Order: sequence, then C-alpha cells, then structure tokens
Amino acid sequence: MEYSPYDEQLNVDPYPLYAQLREKAPVYHNEELDIWALSRHADVDAALRDSAGFSSANGPLLDSAIWGPDAHKVMSFNAMDPPDHTRTRALVSGVFSPRHMNGLEERIRDIVRTHLDPALERESFDFVADVAATVPMDVISELIGVPHEDRAEARRLIHLAFHRPPGARDLTPENAQAMGELAGYYLRWVSERRRNPGTDLLTSLGQARPDGALLTDEQIVAVLGLLVTAGYETSLRMLGNAWYWAWRNPDQRARAFDGGITEWVEETLRYDTPVQYMVRTLTEDRTLHGVPVPAGARVLCLIAAANRDPEVFPDAERFDLGRDTHRVISFGGGPHYCLGAPLARLEARVVLAELARRVSAYEIDADRAVRVYTTNIRGFSSLPTTIKLR
Ligand code: HEM
Repeated sequence: MEYSPYDEQLNVDPYPLYAQLREKAPVYHNEELDIWALSRHADVDAALRDSAGFSSANGPLLDSAIWGPDAHKVMSFNAMDPPDHTRTRALVSGVFSPRHMNGLEERIRDIVRTHLDPALERESFDFVADVAATVPMDVISELIGVPHEDRAEARRLIHLAFHRPPGARDLTPENAQAMGELAGYYLRWVSERRRNPGTDLLTSLGQARPDGALLTDEQIVAVLGLLVTAGYETSLRMLGNAWYWAWRNPDQRARAFDGGITEWVEETLRYDTPVQYMVRTLTEDRTLHGVPVPAGARVLCLIAAANRDPEVFPDAERFDLGRDTHRVISFGGGPHYCLGAPLARLEARVVLAELARRVSAYEIDADRAVRVYTTNIRGFSSLPTTIKLR
C-alpha cells in the first residue's frame, strides 16, 4: 500500500485507498516524501483540535514554496497558532458570523438567478464554469468589496495560481506568477480603500489596529488571499460534487429535489468533500497507535478519509441523504474551524434549491467531465450538463 497526495490515479477515486489506510495503517508514513497521514475519524478530529501538539505555524499545505515559518505571509491566520491566530482571525470573523449571513440570503439568491437564468435558457451548459464558479466568487467579492470589473480577472488568476499539471509537487512558475499578479490586485484594492473608505471588509482591514498599529499592506494582502481562495475554490468544487453525486444516485437525487436540499449539501460534504486534507507540524515526539512519530513531522489530516470512517458513519461508502451527518468534519475542527462554514452552507443551499425548483431532470456527459488537479482540493473543472426545465 502506498499513499502519496501527488498520485494522479488517486484523484480518480481515493476512497478505496483511504479505507486501507484507516484499517491497516492509521499512522501512515511515506518515507520518500517524509510525510505522515492520519485517516481515522477519531485521530483526524483530535489532531485538528490540538493546535499545541499539531501546529499550523508552517502552514496547512505541502507545497515547498509556501511551507515553513513564513507561510502566514501567504495564508495569514490559517498558518498561525493561538494567540496570533486568535487576534488576526478576529479582524474578519464578524463579517462571516451566522447572524450576518442571515441577512445575506436574498442577495445571494439574486446573484444565483443572474448566473442561472442564461444557463437554464440554453438547457445545455457547463455546470462548473457557468454556475458553480460564478456564484461563490461574486458573493465573496461583495463581502470583501472587490470591484465588479476585477472579478473575472481575479477568477482567472485564482485558477492559474492553484491548478497544477498532474503530478506536480510544487508551485509551477505559472502558479507563482499568477499569485504575484493577484497580490498586485489586492494591493490596488487596499490602497484605493485607504483613500476612499466604504463600509466593506477592505475598508475595515485598512483601518484595523490589532496591536495598536495599522496592518501593513502585506498583512492585509495575506488575509485577502486567504479569504478569496478559501471562499471560492472550496464552494465551487463542493457544488460540482453535489451535482455529480446526485446525478450518479438517482434515488437520492429524487430525495434532494423533493425538499432534501440541506441533506443534499451535508451528505455531499461528507461523501466527497472538496478539502481532502490539511497539514500540521507535530510539535513534540508522540507515539500514535504504537507508532513513534518525531517532533517536526508533517502530518496530513485526511478529512475525506475520516468522513468515510465506518466507526462513525454506518454504510459509509453509500451516498445517503437520510443519514446522520452531525459528526462530519469537512469544515475542520478546533481553532481553525472554517470561518466560512455558514456562508458555504447558505450559498450551496440557495444554488441547489433554485436548481431543484426550476429543473425537472438533468444529465451529465461523464465522458467529457474533467477533474481538477490541485494539491488538496478534489472536484471538477468541467461538468457538461443538459437539463429539462419544469
Ligand atoms: C464547502 C466549502 C468549504 C469547505 C469544505 C471548507 C473547509 C475548510 C476547512 C477544512 C478549514 C480548516 C483549515 C485548517 O484546519 O487548517 C477551513 C478554514 C477556513 N475557511 Fe473554509 N471551507 C469552505 C468554504 C469557505 C468559505 C465560503 C469561506 C469564506 C471566506 C471560507 C473561509 C475559510 C477561512 C478563512 C479558513 C481559515 C480559518 C482559520 O484558520 O482560522 N471557507 N475551511
């Protein structure tokens, strides 16, 4: 048994290997890459909650261009431990609170309809490019205060920044260049808002003084980079996975379309989550399931494997909208629990409910469906779809 997150074949269906890891090697070591992997629900859940033992200070991604003590310059508070993490996260957490989200539903529905109407009229479209990729970018852009005219370009640069050729182990020169260009955009937006304050997140970040001094442009750029990428790529892939798995399971699709939208979202998150793993650095020597793991070890917390652990989810390999999903850990756990979870859920429910309301049946051309290659995100970059309207 060999597990490598760079294995192209694994991208097709990682779940049989995850099952073997859970059963036979719950503390797996890949010697060549010198990475460790936890796959059981109890272990992944405990590691994510234990930021003293499993640190985020080197960042949550393997790429060597990002990994290390400077990871926070790219990933902001997602690459920090408390108390720095607590202080920086607090600067933006209000905007993503469940209370604030409640007021957003109508606006999200408007955005959804803007993108959905032309696609549905054609009756044949790419679910990812025409629906799933557009809504999350518009929503996160509005929350942050990204100008309208920059959104399409920001979307293009995010794709270029994160998509790897199959098997690539680090950022490519194209990835790095796109990241640089994105940072240039963020800087422009920040300086524009420092000059012309508004009521958006860009303005409040430009005025915040967490340690008595204003945040530097670089600190703000890192926060924006985190919010835009974390809020876009994840939601987009999750929507594609929901659309795909409901199509593959017609009985469950019928349930989803018959008032089971929340269950559709939650079971998709469990069954095929876009965020397959997050990385941590072990801060001290530990023995886990009898295996000694040294301080400094890079540990992959395989969230997607944990979500299929039969100890927690009976008949875990079945896509079943009727199951209990309250122990799903797709949004992580502990101090880094996904800041955007209420937003992600709201967005997904509004998009899928609108589709269920207007579409009576749909087909996906699976031969032309394309999967993305990123480091830890699983999902589609294309899902050609034909629909029948109600
Ligand atoms: C289905 C969609 C999503 C999934 C599956 C997801 C998953 C996750 C996971 C697993 C983490 C934990 C990271 C860690 O432990 O290091 C996380 C953190 C985070 N997510 Fe999400 N996310 C989603 C959508 C969003 C959205 C819409 C936003 C909006 C901005 C967002 C913003 C963030 C941020 C800022 C963090 C860092 C939190 C911290 O380090 O304290 N996410 N997300």
